[in-house]
Amino acid sequence: MAYALSFKDFFSPTKTLLLLGVVLYVFLVPIFNIANPQLLMVKWASPAARTEPHISSSGENKIPTNLSHIAFGLLGSVKTWPHRRGYLEAWWRPNKTRGYVYLDQAPTPNLLPWPQTAPPYRIVDNLSEIFRDVKPRHALMPRMVHGILELFREEHDDMRWIVMGDDDSIFFVDNIVDVLGGLDHTKYYYLGWHSESVISNFWFSFDQAFGGGGIVLSYPLAKALAADMDGCLIRYAQSSSADLITMTCIADIGVNLTPHKGIHQVDLHGDFSGYLSAHPKVHLMTFHHFDAMDPIFPSMDRMQATRHLMKAADADQSRLLQQTICYQRPTNWSFSIAWGYSAQIYEKIHPRSYLQMPIETFRPWAKGPKPPFYMFNTRLPSSDPCEAPHMFFLESVYKSVAGDQIVTTYLRARPRDMPPCSSAGNHSADSISSIKVFSPAVKRIEIDRSECCDILGVDDNKAEVKFRECKLGEIIA
Ligand SMILES: *[C@@H]1O[C@H](CO)[C@@H](O)[C@H](O)[C@H]1NC(C)=O
Ligand SMILES: *[C@@H]1O[C@H](CO)[C@@H](O)[C@H](O)[C@H]1NC(C)=O
Ligand SMILES: *[C@@H]1O[C@H](CO)[C@@H](O)[C@H](O)[C@H]1NC(C)=O
Ligand SMILES: *[C@@H]1O[C@H](CO)[C@@H](O)[C@H](O)[C@H]1NC(C)=O
Ligand SMILES: *[C@@H]1O[C@H](CO)[C@@H](O)[C@H](O)[C@H]1NC(C)=O
Repeated sequence: MAYALSFKDFFSPTKTLLLLGVVLYVFLVPIFNIANPQLLMVKWASPAARTEPHISSSGENKIPTNLSHIAFGLLGSVKTWPHRRGYLEAWWRPNKTRGYVYLDQAPTPNLLPWPQTAPPYRIVDNLSEIFRDVKPRHALMPRMVHGILELFREEHDDMRWIVMGDDDSIFFVDNIVDVLGGLDHTKYYYLGWHSESVISNFWFSFDQAFGGGGIVLSYPLAKALAADMDGCLIRYAQSSSADLITMTCIADIGVNLTPHKGIHQVDLHGDFSGYLSAHPKVHLMTFHHFDAMDPIFPSMDRMQATRHLMKAADADQSRLLQQTICYQRPTNWSFSIAWGYSAQIYEKIHPRSYLQMPIETFRPWAKGPKPPFYMFNTRLPSSDPCEAPHMFFLESVYKSVAGDQIVTTYLRARPRDMPPCSSAGNHSADSISSIKVFSPAVKRIEIDRSECCDILGVDDNKAEVKFRECKLGEIIA
């Protein structure tokens, strides 16, 4: 009689207690609740009833994000314009990109007529009304933050994202469209990234986007920030940095930074090639401070070097700087290719995790008293022939005749001037003078995994490498 309860079972001491508990709960809880009548009125709504109508379900927002949905605000000055305009003109697409460069005063006659190839200009608002009673610590700082309002005011129609930068910021707009297209612009987003120098983040904030590298705001956030602009500028008039004021005001809205490793403040000096040859595995979105470093390509000036990188960017931004690694077993060589920029040969098999660490060819913007100086691990430049790479830089970008491949060629920068790596069998790569790389002429929007490559051949003076998707279960080692 497995299912019948005996009288004894029912009135066992535990059961009695349980029963008493149930009785107490059923009868007493509602009585207690009456003391707080609101609780009685709380009804469990079905999930369907709770879902509020959301704008992203309407037809208009199903249209994929394109360049016309993004407004760019670039903060400049009449003084810096002549030698910096080339950085903006390198990426600006006249009549396609939307936005303005904000000048501190009307352009002098020598700057007119304003070039068609540059973003149109606006002169910043005079903020003396806002600061009638409270004086800002530095007049320049609120002016830069106020640029967000000035851009929003003019460009809010059919706009989804605002991207703020400086007049020496370089933006990779195809990647920006792809990255932002993957996010819901009807939500609150504040995208940016740290300074590369630890001490800069410490001085300002680890939670702020550094403005020259780019500050990306979704529509609702830009709108909220514009609405509170005067109040926020007065509240934080004593702040010493525009980026910090921006972060502080955004924090007051209840929004925090979403870091994106493709946004680069570039708080570095010297030779940037070590970093660019080991870029993080995310789409490249921006660079700042190109005029504070050595030109990124050997024997070019900064403008030539910027335009040279843009040749690769115009062919395929999705692969730009993506690091792809493969090995030449017969000679124990590692190939590391930062697509569209550089190629390296190491005379030893190094794991991917090692090759992903930038070689410290650069110096920090500002140096704290002791390490760590950078927000990432680095390798020191080495004179050990097993550690020091042979360096090659982008020479040309072509499309294959069939149109299905992009062919980038990298030329040796300088002789390495070292004996071969002995522990890996003395296979010198000294004779290699160029590396040709074939990559599919299709954008790689999903980069959850790196690409793999095969060495097609190595002869006396050149090597050929072909990119492809990694196979299921393939190990790069
Ligand atoms: C971008 O989207 C808008 C709709 O918001 C559409 O009118 C326009 O044609 C699109 N532009 C391109 C280049 O696809
Ligand atoms: C942009 O558009 C304007 C007018 O619509 C035209 O006059 C100008 O030539 C265009 N500029 C470029 C670079 O296409
Ligand atoms: C801003 O406006 C104030 C008065 O409204 C004026 O005194 C000041 O010169 C103006 N500043 C600039 C840079 O035009
Ligand atoms: C590759 O290097 C390993 C040691 O790392 C060595 O044992 C092996 O013989 C080398 N292979 C060739 C082909 O030199
Ligand atoms: C590489 O060459 C050096 C000097 O020529 C020699 O001492 C060493 O044994 C060689 N290593 C290998 C693995 O052959």
